[in-house]
Amino acid sequence: MDMSVTVGTARQPQPAKAEGQKAPRGANSSDLDAWLEKVELLGELKRITAEVDPDLEAATITYLVAGEKSPALLFENIKGHPGHRALYNMVGCNLSRFCLMIGEQPMDHPLKAVQSLQQKLGRKVPPKEVSAEQAICNQNIVEGNDIDIRIFPAQRMWPLDGGMYLGTGDAVVTKDPETGRVNVGTYRMMIKGPREVGVYTSPGKDATIDREKWWRRGKPMPIAAAYGIDPLLFLVAATSLPKTECEYDYYSGINGAPIEVFISDLTGLPLPARAEIVIEGFLYPDETFAEGPFGEFTGYYGRPSGATPFMRVERVRYRDNPTLTCALMADSAANECGLFWAALRSAGIWADLQKLGVPGIKGVWSIPEAAGWGITVVSIRRRYRSEQYRSGVVGNGDAFAPSAVDRHPAGDLEHVSRS
Ligand SMILES: Cc1cc2nc3c(=O)[nH]c(=O)nc-3n(C[C@H](O)[C@H](O)[C@H](O)COP(=O)(O)O)c2cc1C
Repeated sequence: MDMSVTVGTARQPQPAKAEGQKAPRGANSSDLDAWLEKVELLGELKRITAEVDPDLEAATITYLVAGEKSPALLFENIKGHPGHRALYNMVGCNLSRFCLMIGEQPMDHPLKAVQSLQQKLGRKVPPKEVSAEQAICNQNIVEGNDIDIRIFPAQRMWPLDGGMYLGTGDAVVTKDPETGRVNVGTYRMMIKGPREVGVYTSPGKDATIDREKWWRRGKPMPIAAAYGIDPLLFLVAATSLPKTECEYDYYSGINGAPIEVFISDLTGLPLPARAEIVIEGFLYPDETFAEGPFGEFTGYYGRPSGATPFMRVERVRYRDNPTLTCALMADSAANECGLFWAALRSAGIWADLQKLGVPGIKGVWSIPEAAGWGITVVSIRRRYRSEQYRSGVVGNGDAFAPSAVDRHPAGDLEHVSRS
């Protein structure tokens, strides 16, 4: 594998001392702690205490276990990483944990969750700024040459993956240098070295646009990535929301309370105070390395290994005994994003159909087993024969199965999705 580095413009000056940002030990708990507590009360958390290898084994176990009603998997004994944990199958295709993620009690039908999410997506709340001392991720701060990001249990999930991925269940923070708009996105991050990690962002993604703007100015892009995060932050980060808006606002709206952030004195970025791990640094103009490939949510490989920018890591913050959130991308029910992409897409299409004035919509369901993208079923109460065809057209581009829905007595979309 070509691991060559193209060196770009001059390096950023040394970071300011971070001592002032340190949090007292045990000052507070993380958002993930709070979520896991609720999941455990539901009986949906499986703690794995046997030693498990981060190289393929944890992901393989997850793939074999994942399915409807499968538990979240907390690997507490990861080979080579004492004191660290890795969480898989946070939500997967499990409706009860999806409901917890959006701040609801478990519901008995996915369409109820879709409607709740649709309402919550409509309200946006700005983040609340707290001091760095209040941030749990500041229990431990490592800088400069003391940094080795390989202490965290990065994972290889599929045999042909290009390396060990620190970032899958992550929230990557960047800023548009022109407008100041902060973006939070999920992008894969393959480890390159002790202080270097790839950040693959596809063309047109918000972080790509931010990066191009910084680089056009001849400046490195400040960047941070959080792991050990609230699954809800992962949901908004992994979702395409309007380009001019910040995902923190959507998180806070769905959450019903503002996310707590502190401003980094290194990058100037607002960082999630209740995340368990945050790394920060810069993407330097035209510095790339051979990254990937990475097994995708479709169940196969997409982009082959290729030149990808990487973060030069200047600071690492983490709580004691942190948990790395990991998102397995896989076919069918093992895909970490299947259900939440399904719910978001269903909510969006449903809202659009309503705006278009389509009458009698009983439900919209973008099937999780098709990654929430491939197939959308729309159930419409049929009043006369030609109406069925009209609703097929507004389904717009997605495979649409009106006859299957019509055949089902109650238009039960959950049933249709599995038939
Ligand atoms: C586990 C996981 C890994 C992802 N990896 C990437 C990636 O490497 N590059 C990318 O552009 N999008 C990736 N995505 C999709 C983006 O998260 C998604 O398109 C999101 O909307 C991007 O945020 P943005 O719209 O703010 O750019 C990934 C999603 C998930 C769930």
